[in-house]
Amino acid sequence: MAIRNIIKLGDPRLRQKSEEVAITELQSKEIKNLIRDMNDSMNAAGGVGLAAPQIGVLKRVAIIGSKELQETGENQRYLNQPAVKYRVLINPIIEPLTDKTQGFFEGCLSIPGMRGFVERPNRIKLTYYDTNEDQKQEIIDGFEAIVVQHECDHLDGVLYVDRLKDWRLFGYDQEMSALIASSET
Ligand code: NI
Repeated sequence: MAIRNIIKLGDPRLRQKSEEVAITELQSKEIKNLIRDMNDSMNAAGGVGLAAPQIGVLKRVAIIGSKELQETGENQRYLNQPAVKYRVLINPIIEPLTDKTQGFFEGCLSIPGMRGFVERPNRIKLTYYDTNEDQKQEIIDGFEAIVVQHECDHLDGVLYVDRLKDWRLFGYDQEMSALIASSET
């Protein structure tokens, strides 16, 4: 178990483009250790997703969902949302399948205590490698699609605050709790 420091907004590493993982490295000890540390760090922080650059590793690796919360079906960070199925995403590619967007008050472990309203396509095709060497493809919609897009943005040095259209819908989560709750019903 290794909980790594999650770097925060302002750290230049969050703004860099991460490198692809070579297929021959998918099952390497380095990648296994990275994923283990990402799981430990995300669970300790109570997140629903984490990208490698958030622990300072500029590789195209992200995790979504939580192995531990999978059994309880609870989503502790976003209470009104369903639990997200655990996946390791290596070299993920997203293709939006619709022009229809879905708005959500997103948060980020690298921008603690804050939330902001962002709109994204609500149905995507996701292509990725997991730790096996085969490529996977899934159609994902709703809240899971938001989480996937948020994490994949990190791999290109993009943060959700870059996608805010209305800065009045950005602020501290406690101060905005009533607004956030009303947006999710
Ligand atoms: Ni984030």
